[in-house]
Amino acid sequence: MRASWWRNAVFYQVYVRSFADSNDDGVGDLPGITSRLDYLRSLGVDGLWLTPFYPSPQKDQGYDVADYYGVNPEYGTLDDFDRLVEEAHRHGIKVLIDIVPNHTSSRHPWFEAALSAPDDPHRTMYYFVPGRDGAPPNNWQSAFGGPAWTQLEGVPEWYMHLFAPEQPDLNWWNPVVPAEFRKIITYWLDRGADGFRIDVAVSLYKRRDLADRPLVPDRITGAPTTAPGFEILDQPEVHDVYRDWRHIAGTYEPERVLVGEIFDPRRQSRYIKQDELHMAFAMMDRPWEASAWKRRIDVYRRAVSRGTSFPSWTQSNHDVVRHVTRLGGDGLGRDRAKASALLLLGLPGQYFIYQGEELGLEEAFVPPERREDPLYILSNGRHQGRDGCRVPLPWRQHEPNAGFSTSSPWLPTPPGWDRNAVDAQAHSSTSMLSLYRRLLDVRRGLARRLPPRMRWAAAPKDCLIYHRGPLSVACNFGHRPLELDLPGRLLLGSSPGVRRSATRLLMPPNSSAWLETRRSAGS
Ligand code: NOJ
Repeated sequence: MRASWWRNAVFYQVYVRSFADSNDDGVGDLPGITSRLDYLRSLGVDGLWLTPFYPSPQKDQGYDVADYYGVNPEYGTLDDFDRLVEEAHRHGIKVLIDIVPNHTSSRHPWFEAALSAPDDPHRTMYYFVPGRDGAPPNNWQSAFGGPAWTQLEGVPEWYMHLFAPEQPDLNWWNPVVPAEFRKIITYWLDRGADGFRIDVAVSLYKRRDLADRPLVPDRITGAPTTAPGFEILDQPEVHDVYRDWRHIAGTYEPERVLVGEIFDPRRQSRYIKQDELHMAFAMMDRPWEASAWKRRIDVYRRAVSRGTSFPSWTQSNHDVVRHVTRLGGDGLGRDRAKASALLLLGLPGQYFIYQGEELGLEEAFVPPERREDPLYILSNGRHQGRDGCRVPLPWRQHEPNAGFSTSSPWLPTPPGWDRNAVDAQAHSSTSMLSLYRRLLDVRRGLARRLPPRMRWAAAPKDCLIYHRGPLSVACNFGHRPLELDLPGRLLLGSSPGVRRSATRLLMPPNSSAWLETRRSAGS
């Protein structure tokens, strides 16, 4: 086993509630994931990231943890977790789990104890702060809308929650909190987890003075917005935590890994270090334009690519609109998503697939009365919420609920959802699923020969070309076909229209190609 098994790995994000339902109760579960390991293996992924499966009232789909040491009964048991890890390892697949250190559920015993008596010591594990003349202690806002503070009946202080009121923020300045999380992470590493995806990784410590955000008018809308340079989160002390966790991760063989939920490239450069986090997400959410994608790729490369760290490319997750939809939807969105997969998977670094991306799923419409996301509910419908990217996976065509479950799933499957089912795509050579399988296979085959660096080559308008050792990658973002003078054997095209003549590479609009050259073109 390589010590640095995670470098250049392809991870697959399993949204546990929606991946596979083993007991037909309409909710995905851990045995469901175990039963689909063959699928994941045949896709060719190296590791999984499981979204939170802990006991939870599900006010924010598991990101409100009521017990950091257990499994939500809807998802199975600790034995099911052990079996999943064991079987995944047998399939050569690593398992990262989600850790939620910024906040607990309001049903966590610590918070319940905190509310039990004014002098209960657990109160110091959270932010309980006196208000100002009946108003919250400061003007901080919750990410889901409204103030970041709630006052409970009979409790004179307000408590802080940067997300839903049912997700009280932990006070990391209290040394009991870091000590508890040390125990939690060690517990899961000892149980076989290969690492963690760390939820809102920069937020653990809040600025100590809890000062009001100074508001200035937004340059464009004029609406009040936080003055630049005023930082609520991202306090220097959080780095001590990750240095400690990195040390712990390094005591295991092979090394365990830490992936921070951090998207801002400037922040990434401060967290991804030899002695802190291994990875963070390089989110490719730009409009479909060659120059915008090149800039975004370069910003992440510059922020992260130092020595042994590289970006972890990703296009979708459980919090954003699925990228097929963002890229134009339908056939156009799918063509572009095929092209972007080739473009990104040729780059140095890791890649995170969000479940269903390999099927080319689009954002689903969820009727308002079935939406569950607190972002939708707490913003009073101003934000459509994130349920549309969380709809259960379609496994089988022509079956109720696209083969996910015989019971009605926790989010409804929209009409026609089974068109993109796994079994409908598995044997079609032009499907998204077949392309992902081939792509990961070819990538694995080339892995040893791919140097850690790439270089851009001159390219016509609306086109990007880069070289990385024997691999050349071209992507046509434009509306017109392109003919390129690019040498090399065609390894893979994102669409059947990508072809090579004796001297030229023919590329339809919105397509990419992988070519192999003998000479070493990388530097
Ligand atoms: C980020 C998670 O990805 C998101 O789903 C959740 O709502 C917030 N953190 C709060 O935990």
